[in-house]
Amino acid sequence: MTPEQKAKLHFDSKTVYYPPDEGTSSINAPLFMSSSFQYGAEVYNRVVDGERKDVNIYGRCGNPTEYQLEEQMCMVEGAEACLATASGMAAISVSLFGLLKSGDHIVCDWTTYSSTHEMLDHRLTDYGITTTFVDTADLDSVRAAIQDNTRVLYFETIANPTMKVATIQALADIAHERGVVAVCDNTFASPYVMRPLDLGVDIVVESATKFIGGHSDAIGGVICLKSDLLPKDFMEQIRWNTMVKWGSPLSPFNAWLLLRSLQTLSVRVERQCQTAMTLARHFEQHPKVNKVWYPGLPSHPQHALAKEQMPKFGGMLTFDVGDVDSALKVLDNLQLACFAASLGGVRTTTQIPASMAFLDIPDEERLQMGITQGMIRVSSGLEDPQDLMSDFDAALALI
Ligand SMILES: Cc1ncc(COP(=O)(O)O)c(C=O)c1O
Repeated sequence: MTPEQKAKLHFDSKTVYYPPDEGTSSINAPLFMSSSFQYGAEVYNRVVDGERKDVNIYGRCGNPTEYQLEEQMCMVEGAEACLATASGMAAISVSLFGLLKSGDHIVCDWTTYSSTHEMLDHRLTDYGITTTFVDTADLDSVRAAIQDNTRVLYFETIANPTMKVATIQALADIAHERGVVAVCDNTFASPYVMRPLDLGVDIVVESATKFIGGHSDAIGGVICLKSDLLPKDFMEQIRWNTMVKWGSPLSPFNAWLLLRSLQTLSVRVERQCQTAMTLARHFEQHPKVNKVWYPGLPSHPQHALAKEQMPKFGGMLTFDVGDVDSALKVLDNLQLACFAASLGGVRTTTQIPASMAFLDIPDEERLQMGITQGMIRVSSGLEDPQDLMSDFDAALALI
C-alpha cells in the first residue's frame, strides 16, 4: 500500500493494517528481543558520520519492534513522527526536558495526573523551570498566564480524575499566537476518542499502558508530533539527546504487546465508552451517589464542547459518595470490578483519587483541582454492564 493509500484509510483499518513482513510474509509484526545489533563497515560508517536514523545500534537507542509501534502510532494519531518510551511518565518527561531549559516557563492546567503535577510543581523547579497553574477552561486566564519566557502550554484532553474536557483548538491557537508549544496528554481519552493533533496541538503524550495496551500487562508511552512550530527533526533530537541519554526506551516485548493490542483498540474502547455511559446514567439516578462526572451526561459542565469535539465520550467516569471511608467501603466490597491502580484495561478498575494517586498533593490544592474526598474513579472494562451495575449496587448498599 502506498503512503497516500494508507493515509486515506479509516481509523479502524489503520489500527490493524500491517504490510506483510518482508522475507517471512507474516501478517503480524515480528518481535526482535535483542539489545545488540551487528555492525558491518557500512553501518559503522553511517553511525560515525552521524547518520543514525534507521540504523540498529543498541537497544537503548531503539529497536525494530519499537520502530514498528512508532510507525503504527503515526498512522493512528495522524502524526508526522512518534517516539515510544518506557512509560507514560517517560513520554511526559522526555518531551518536556527536550523542549525546556533553565529559565523557561510552563502554563499548565490545574488538574493533571498527580505525578505530572508533582513533576511540574517540584521536580522541574530544581532545574530552574517554573510553572503557572491555571484552569484552562478559562481561556482568559491562560492568555494572562503566558509570559515572555513561556515555552509550553500543557493540559490533559480529559483531565484525570475530574473529567474536565479541554477546549483543544482554542488552547492550541492561544499557545501559537505567542509562539508557545501546545502539549497535551491524551491518556484518559485514547486516540479512538480524541486525536488532538488534528485540532492543532503540537505534541501529544500518552500512557500506552492504558487504553492502547488495554490488557493491564505492559507499561509504555508514546510521544506523537505534528507541528509547524517545532523543527522537523525535533523527534530525532529528543530521541538522541533526551530519551537515549536518560535511558528511557520502550522494551521490545512491551512494544510488541502494545502493537498487538492496538489492533483491537477501536472495538475495546467503543464498548468501554458504551459501558461508561450506562454506568454514568445508572449512578446519576443512584440514591447513594452525590454527583457523577462524565462528559456524555448533559449535567457535565463541558457536555456541549464534548459533543462537538469527540465522537465518543470515553471509558472513564467518576462519582462521589461523600467521604473517603464510604468510598473505601464501596471499592473494598466490589466482587467483579477491581480495586486497583491504572485504567483503560479489559477489567473494570476503580480508585479513590484523593487518598491514592493524589495523596501527596495537599488538601487545598486537591480541592482546587476539583478532586473531592469521596470521589471514586471508574475505568470501564469489557464485563457485562448489567453485572457491573449489580456489583456496584451491592457495594453501595453497604454505605
Ligand atoms: C493521565 C495520565 N498520564 C500519564 C500517566 C503515567 O503513565 P505511566 O504509568 O504509563 O507512566 C498516567 C498514569 O496513570 C495518567 O493517568
